[in-house]
Amino acid sequence: MKKTLVCKIDKNNIDIDKIQEFGKILKNGGTVIFPTETVYGLGADALNDKAAKKIYEAKGRPSDNPLIVHIADKEKIHEIATNIDERVYSVMDKFWPGPITIVLKKKTIVPSITSGNLDTVAVRMPSHPIAISLIKESGVFVAGPSANISGRPSPTDEENVYEEMNGRVDGIILGGDSNVGLESTVLDLTGDIPTILRPGGVTIEDLREVLGEVVIDPAILEKNENIIAKAPGMKYTHYAPKAEVFIVKKYDEDYIDKINKLVDEGIKEGKKIGIMCLDKNKDKYKGEVIGLGEDLNEVAYNLFKALREMDKKGVDIIYSESFENVGIGQAIMNRLIKAAGYKFV
Ligand code: TXA
Ligand code: MG
Repeated sequence: MKKTLVCKIDKNNIDIDKIQEFGKILKNGGTVIFPTETVYGLGADALNDKAAKKIYEAKGRPSDNPLIVHIADKEKIHEIATNIDERVYSVMDKFWPGPITIVLKKKTIVPSITSGNLDTVAVRMPSHPIAISLIKESGVFVAGPSANISGRPSPTDEENVYEEMNGRVDGIILGGDSNVGLESTVLDLTGDIPTILRPGGVTIEDLREVLGEVVIDPAILEKNENIIAKAPGMKYTHYAPKAEVFIVKKYDEDYIDKINKLVDEGIKEGKKIGIMCLDKNKDKYKGEVIGLGEDLNEVAYNLFKALREMDKKGVDIIYSESFENVGIGQAIMNRLIKAAGYKFV
């Protein structure tokens, strides 16, 4: 177990001395967890292979899974990536800083441990003031996957990130909740047609307004062993709580009755059953019910936290309502399907 420097920092009143302390840890090759607007990130110097390696160790993550490189200044993209065309500029202008990551051809300065042996690099400029300040003060490119142990839901709040990662990294900055709650959109701009490798905070509808044609990597939409995910991260079991998750298809009107029957059956077998649903349905279910919010943005914000809360309640099975596959709903359904291992009822 490592000695971890843990500090609360107020994003509206940033203590720059503290940020500098964490910046120094990064500069010296250490690991620091920091808040972003999407989820908490586990940072290390992206151009220092020894430092980047520590990320994989802390997460227990296979090292063929490439890391996102975070920058605090758009111009920095030129130091690590090539093929920066008009499309890249328009996405950066419109959505950075913010929840979108762009995949580009990498420059040789990016070590293969960071790029997962690919010839590309994923770059993002986050909008969270603490993330921006930390990257600037560190003076390095900050590689940063989500700050969870590999396979678990990404942490979006102080308590969960601390519980899971204290002792595994050199520093943790506690900076409040992540307000998007799901990870960034990963957009591949290395080919002719912009391709979404992971749906996220910026939606396909938003991107089409700026880029025209945008497609989704088919590996995201269906479970098919023959389709190889272009974002290697998408091939692993992910976002999984300890409980077994099932998604409830909402095709028929009586889905609420259907679920309550399943809850009864589960309880008879001595199991603890959790339900995740829209707030308006909260009172209709039996079992341990967590309302995810009133609209899709609230559901995105609450989803990962709810999965972790179900673990804390010791739930054995979770039934989750399904959500409309539009806007941020696409990212919500992608994460839910992964958490459920493609199991529907
Ligand atoms: O919102 C986010 O993106 C958060 C915060 C911390 O910025 N980070 C994050 O990183 O979610 P991570 O490592 O958990 O997920 C990165 C995803 C993975 O699915 C990975 O395979 C994909 O991006 N990726 C990274 N580099 C890539 C590349 N060169 N080509 C294709 N996919 C890449
Ligand atoms: Mg992740």
